[in-house]
Amino acid sequence: PEPGWSVQADVVVVGSGIAGLTVALRYAELAPGARVLVVTKDVLSSGSTRWAQGGIAAVLDPADSPAEHLSDTLVAGVGLCDVRAVRALVTEGPAALRLLMDHGARFDREPGGELQLTREGGHCRDRIVHAGGDATGAEVQRALVEAVAASASTGGRIEVIEHALVLDLLKDASGAACGITLHVMGEGARDGVGAVRAGAVVLATGGMGQVYEATTNPVVSTGDGVALALRAGAVVRDLEFVQFHPTVLWLGEGSTGQQPLISEAVRGEGALLVDGAGERFMTGVHDLAELAPRDVVAKAIMRRMLETGAAHVYLDARHFGEKRWRSRFPTIHAICLEHGIDPVREPIPVAPAAHYASGGVHTDLQGRTSVAGLYACGEVACTGVHGANRLASNSLLEGLVFAERIAADLASVRLAPGEPVDDGRVAGLVDPRARPRVQARMSAGAGVLRSGRSLSEVGQSLLDARWTPVAVEPCTEAWETTNLLTVATALVAAARAREETRGSHWREDFPERNDAWWLGHLDVTLAEEGL
Ligand code: SIN
Repeated sequence: PEPGWSVQADVVVVGSGIAGLTVALRYAELAPGARVLVVTKDVLSSGSTRWAQGGIAAVLDPADSPAEHLSDTLVAGVGLCDVRAVRALVTEGPAALRLLMDHGARFDREPGGELQLTREGGHCRDRIVHAGGDATGAEVQRALVEAVAASASTGGRIEVIEHALVLDLLKDASGAACGITLHVMGEGARDGVGAVRAGAVVLATGGMGQVYEATTNPVVSTGDGVALALRAGAVVRDLEFVQFHPTVLWLGEGSTGQQPLISEAVRGEGALLVDGAGERFMTGVHDLAELAPRDVVAKAIMRRMLETGAAHVYLDARHFGEKRWRSRFPTIHAICLEHGIDPVREPIPVAPAAHYASGGVHTDLQGRTSVAGLYACGEVACTGVHGANRLASNSLLEGLVFAERIAADLASVRLAPGEPVDDGRVAGLVDPRARPRVQARMSAGAGVLRSGRSLSEVGQSLLDARWTPVAVEPCTEAWETTNLLTVATALVAAARAREETRGSHWREDFPERNDAWWLGHLDVTLAEEGL
């Protein structure tokens, strides 16, 4: 569609979670006078960040070291992490966290005033900071939204457009990014399809969990940034590595959409996984038992569910007692009660659900993608820190550290948007009614367990879903469904190609890790998938 309106900025940031807002704030601080525009699909606070429970991993304990955080991250990533990116993450993490505190985030502290640290799966030390017990993301989002508002009211130059779904990248004759097209559901001058012309575009659109039926991700996580990047010809990497969180509250057969998380920190503080007969099953699987890396725990749960024919297992933390539940995990305690489960008196039914995309738009260490002027930050990006499986609580940290690097890079270059050579190109809109079918097929054949056969069946269903008997009206639901189908197709292509089991990619027909053939990355392009 033709843009009906247009605005200018030095930098446009797409997305308003920890990654997007930190880039905006830091760039505004490092380049006073520059004009920063944040566009976000819903309202500023609606992305995945605010749902994060566990916390942010950072080396703060004098007994801990960046080398140990590096080693834990590399072990979780099963050979596919970029060591340079992980080194940046673990060494720059503590300073990035302090900047977040300078922006107003308040974390839980010990009576003596030091930050309280807890442990999660795959970490050999207590190094997770948290807020409000188990409401870390909500506190981070609150602080960043307030900091952006304060910047605007004190003459800073961060402008925000809400209810703005990004459509496509604008490129100039040299192929460099020079803005975006977007659809705004607003009133007045900026309503409908418009364009932002900018010297640089930062994608911070979060994840793609809505590609599956059951996910911890909010409804806005439809892979819009990865779909845009694929259409723009950027390198997209490691999409097969979708992390399934092991302990998501089981809400009953056929429950779909966003599901409540039971934070890994609950296991970090002593909760045990048991099957329907009350038997612990993680002890024989891994030395760290319930605190093994996330892929190991998710697979063990799935295995036990298959062996027993049960739709879930249980997380038993009755021994915490009411006082500890209410003080340390108030959010989870309240969610459980809301769903008729009292975790003080009964074990919590849990099952794995889609949680995090370890892959995404490939970037270098400054967050630059393969398209000049296009950056990616946070879950949408593949910086190389997660490899085949992200370590718990490294995601908010990655958003912080790489936002800082991107802001510094942006502040060091002269930004002048070129002339767009076309108006973007979302083509072949998909009927929004295909969405539940796509999600159901993806969960059935490209979820925790995959095989060549299940993946080729999903691939065929995705092809069928593209067919539509009537012309589809452009609207948010149609654009989102088109994006979901685009990223699902790319994900299935990568999962079919990787004929081994590694990290969060579990092939039943290739149950072993195969370093001889597969110790490398898979890049996906739209042309290869015929999209
Ligand atoms: C959790 O609290 O278990 C989620 C933490 C994460 O995904 O890193």
